[in-house]
Amino acid sequence: MSTQSDNRFQAIISHAKEYGFVFQSSEIYDGLSAVYDYGPYGCELKKNIRDYWWKSMTQMHENIVGVDAAIFMHPTTWKASGHVDNFSDPMIDNKDSKKRYRVDHLLEAYADQLEEKGEAEKAKTILATMDALLAKEDYAGLKQLIIDNNIKCSISGTCNWTDIRQFNLMFDTKLGSVTDEADTIYLRPETAQGIFVNFLNVQKTARMKIPFGIAQTGKAFRNEIVARQFIFRMREFEQMEMQFFVRPGTEGDWYKFWKEERLKWHLSLGIPAEKYRYHDHVKLAHYAKEACDIEFEFPMGFKEVEGIHSRSDFDLSQHQLYSKKKQQYFDADVDPTTGKPYGNYVPYVIETSIGLDRMCLLVMSNAYDEETINKEDGTTDSRVVMHIPEKIAPVKLAILPLTKKDGLPELARELMDACKGSFRCFYEEKDAIGKRYRRQDAIGTPFCVTIDHQTKEDGTVTIRYRDSMQQERVHMSKLKSIVLEAIS
Ligand code: GAP
Repeated sequence: MSTQSDNRFQAIISHAKEYGFVFQSSEIYDGLSAVYDYGPYGCELKKNIRDYWWKSMTQMHENIVGVDAAIFMHPTTWKASGHVDNFSDPMIDNKDSKKRYRVDHLLEAYADQLEEKGEAEKAKTILATMDALLAKEDYAGLKQLIIDNNIKCSISGTCNWTDIRQFNLMFDTKLGSVTDEADTIYLRPETAQGIFVNFLNVQKTARMKIPFGIAQTGKAFRNEIVARQFIFRMREFEQMEMQFFVRPGTEGDWYKFWKEERLKWHLSLGIPAEKYRYHDHVKLAHYAKEACDIEFEFPMGFKEVEGIHSRSDFDLSQHQLYSKKKQQYFDADVDPTTGKPYGNYVPYVIETSIGLDRMCLLVMSNAYDEETINKEDGTTDSRVVMHIPEKIAPVKLAILPLTKKDGLPELARELMDACKGSFRCFYEEKDAIGKRYRRQDAIGTPFCVTIDHQTKEDGTVTIRYRDSMQQERVHMSKLKSIVLEAIS
């Protein structure tokens, strides 16, 4: 990361803390690494993003329904899904500092440094070689790549590396009262399996016909090794996943559909298209037919925010095998080539999987701005403003009586009562109006309204727009519809 990007990232982290978006977990005990809590504005932002995703997935797609599965699942789930045997990352330890690195992160960080030094071609070659070696699971080759490029540990500064080993990322715990005899179970590392094991329950009870989807949001847990990137990589995080069940043979078209549909969702928030790109996977899981990431330009560069995966019938077939319960769907539609119904089959799946916390970081990174304001008298001023899309802003409207007297608070309270049932409002009487505007800019409130003495005479108020800082007088009775139109 360049110094400038690093400074910007640090500024966003400080701002997130200072203005009640994100706090380090258990901070009074010096924190818990890679675990975070959301404050008053952060939890509103997070909820708004979750709701926006949920509505666009379920309400706007008639063939998608939801579930809310438990975090604990039968341990065989994770054997069947492959997580017990394969959910691991290649790691390498530095023998001098004892620090452990994920091999791909170590090489990616080195490639970033090369790019900053203007050696973009060399960086590209290293990343391409890494992708090829990872695809072959050639760990000796990967270690050689690290040694050949003289990649050093950031702490010890040495190249004294161990061999590369696999490290499982699942957290385990015990279910039952007597620890010795209790079963080992896992904290789910993805929400997807809660959808797969409920495939038939949902299909039958909601009478779904293929193609259809099941959506879920919820916590997931991974014992991440490299976890120093704020809420980008956490040990406890939230996912928003959707599994779309299709007839075998149609998965190519549906993969293309969801790849485009999901990018459209991101762009519908008004975030610039040039900040997004697709990254098609070279290394595919053995069951995967196609996979890509939607990447966003975070302060530390382009990184994954969402994955779209064509997973074949792998998960349902595995659960069928391990549970010995058929996971089939009867398709009564007629196959035009045979003239007969398609009949029984295990559906294929297209998955869309996005990290909610990562999406919060995306929104905050895109929104954060340190602006210089040229004033009419020739002087300058500055402000920190969060240009959060109106639809998902933590607070939509701040209601600010100019003074604490002359009946202005009463009028402001009337407006508050008229609006607070429809969207989140904030009321404040204290401090100069300029100071109050700045505080609202810092938490991304798109509309501020000032109630002054003229309001008493003609019922008009001053509405001030966060992004342009323009102000205009409108009738109080129009405010609710102005805000509702902007956020709908
Ligand atoms: N079911 C598929 C699955 O879990 P993934 O690529 O491992 O796929 C999907 O994760 C998304 O979850 C990622 O694109 C990312 O946004 C988010 N995610 C994964 N690990 C995370 C972590 N440690 N912290 C925060 N978000 C994470």
